Amino acid sequence: MRILGIESSCDETGVAVVDDGRLVRSNVIASQAALHVEYGGGVPEIASRAHVERILPALRRSLDEADATLDSIDAVAVGHRPGLIGALLVGVSAAKAMAWSLGRPIVGVDHIEAHLYAGLLDDETWTRESIFPAVGLVVSGGHSTLYRADGPLALERLGWTIDDAVGEAYDKVASILGLSYPGGPVVDRRATSGDDRAYDLPVSRLAPDSLDFSFSGLKTAVLYAVRGTPRRGGAGQIEHPRDPADLSEREIDDLCASFQRAAVAALLLKLRRAIETMSPAPRTILLGGGVSANSRLRAEVTALGATLGIPVRLPPLPYCLDNAAMIAGLAFERGRADDVDDLELAAVPSGAG
Ligand code: KG4
Ligand code: ZN
Repeated sequence: MRILGIESSCDETGVAVVDDGRLVRSNVIASQAALHVEYGGGVPEIASRAHVERILPALRRSLDEADATLDSIDAVAVGHRPGLIGALLVGVSAAKAMAWSLGRPIVGVDHIEAHLYAGLLDDETWTRESIFPAVGLVVSGGHSTLYRADGPLALERLGWTIDDAVGEAYDKVASILGLSYPGGPVVDRRATSGDDRAYDLPVSRLAPDSLDFSFSGLKTAVLYAVRGTPRRGGAGQIEHPRDPADLSEREIDDLCASFQRAAVAALLLKLRRAIETMSPAPRTILLGGGVSANSRLRAEVTALGATLGIPVRLPPLPYCLDNAAMIAGLAFERGRADDVDDLELAAVPSGAG
């Protein structure tokens, strides 16, 4: 079954061709990061407009790179939730037009569930029994969520963030430090040359049995480390004693490393706790989402898996960030169960978790 996948939930326009949910024939990602950089974050209206401009060229390129004809497409998949509504609508409309004109079924896929499928792409050897039950961790700009997975589409949420998503914390810390957007890759890179013990930043734990995350305290701790504890100024307004412009390059590296150590420690703490609570024990650890590209997180989850004797499925880097291959991949699981949608499929800004 050859599936054309479309992804437009945030600020990457993705189109992919995937055979039988496993073999990625093409995975085109037309990034918009350059358009959002001057605003220090994604601007929904700019994202929607940019999707409109990019979707057809991305579609053509994806078919070309896969050496696929339109006729060879068996179904059209689209990430229809969650995301920015205007952005989602572009992908959903394009997918409907393709499905209708080709006379093929359309399959709406949950973007977060698809992130967990990313580590199963490009591998024809896995079976349901070899992977599931699994523990899943989705870490992205919008989500930090732990799941128990009994199958690619059978997810039960175990915990999520009570405030900021971890990727959002990366982006905000980068902005506090005067680094560019998106912050994750820059903070990750700078952290490699910093001292991760230079600043004593808090690792959020919440209640002992909680599987939820919290990252806003860590972000605020970085703000105070950079600008000093706020105090009331002469006219009664809040002032910070220090200016971020005074930071040396060395201090920025050290702050990135210290932040990264605390953020990854918080993720690992809850991941380990989730594994301990699962019965039967998970057969694999699935990781997904933009932050799963993080070098320290990848190393620490790999080490945890080795210690516990549980194989880890780390998505290759092109499948960590938003992409359409994961959408087309997961849609195969729906398609082979004959569980498809119709042209009434709606774009839904909120998601399953
Ligand atoms: O999955 P994704 O592309 O979009 C959402 O669904 O949100 O994730 C984007 C997030 C951004 O917050 C970005 O800063 C973060 O992933 N990110 C990283 C790294 N690469 C991207 N965070 C930490 N380390 C990285 N190497
Ligand atoms: Zn995503």
